[in-house]
Amino acid sequence: MPIAIACLGRKGGVGKTLTASSVAALIAARGQRTLLIDLDPQSNAAFVLGADPAAAGTAEWLAGHEPCFQSVNESLAVLAGGPSLLDYAIARLDPDSLKRVMQEQSYEAFVLDCPPGNDQLERLAIYAADRAVVCTDAHPLAVMGASRVLTELQQRRSESRPGPQQWAIAVTRIDTRRSLDRQVSESLGKTYADTPLFVIRQDSGFALAAADRLPITEAGDLRVRADLQALTAWCFDGQN
Ligand SMILES: Nc1ncnc2c1ncn2[C@@H]1O[C@H](COP(=O)(O)OP(=O)(O)O)[C@@H](O)[C@H]1O
Ligand SMILES: [Mg+2]
Repeated sequence: MPIAIACLGRKGGVGKTLTASSVAALIAARGQRTLLIDLDPQSNAAFVLGADPAAAGTAEWLAGHEPCFQSVNESLAVLAGGPSLLDYAIARLDPDSLKRVMQEQSYEAFVLDCPPGNDQLERLAIYAADRAVVCTDAHPLAVMGASRVLTELQQRRSESRPGPQQWAIAVTRIDTRRSLDRQVSESLGKTYADTPLFVIRQDSGFALAAADRLPITEAGDLRVRADLQALTAWCFDGQN
């Protein structure tokens, strides 16, 4: 059975795309054939992996057209996002549409990069995912967005509605020298004591590698790699 992991968070700029693209690259580095599906009209995931962000991608796939599965390396492919995700045809899709097209593919792992603030696109991911990574940074508004997602996931699971059965929190861009960052991580850990929490440290080399369009597996020695590897191990094995 393939695994499907959604990176969610209602706010923009909280590290969803860098987390999703790194988890995808690290799963692929374990030899699993992995597809990163970009559900964001801004199409940043393909860009940071060095692929064409304007190629026919997730929207075309969902609309029943031929998309371009762009190879990043031997084990990793990416479907670009893009503005067509905002088309009326996508807005009218059944919520299990993404899950259905994923089932026609032979990848061993799917990683879904969600957009901020688009319920319909997020719902497609929620229906398709076995596991979710809820991303937030230390900003109170981001934590509020993540809390809403966590409440929704909890509610769906308790009502046996479609959606991930397991989830983790990724607190991104954390500088442990900043007291706000430490406090936010600790307080999330207390509030969601039963939810695995991963601290993804701030790493300017990581941001630079993304700007240079290098996957984390090709980005040299980064301190954030160990953090993302721990998160990937949970995504892959459900370990914590
Ligand atoms: N761990 C990190 N260390 C340093 N910069 C980061 C880290 N994670 C994300 N960033 C930077 O933060 C910005 C937003 O990240 P991104 O992954 O695009 O967020 P989102 O997809 O939630 O909008 C980008 O400029 C990215 O380079
Ligand atoms: Mg993004």
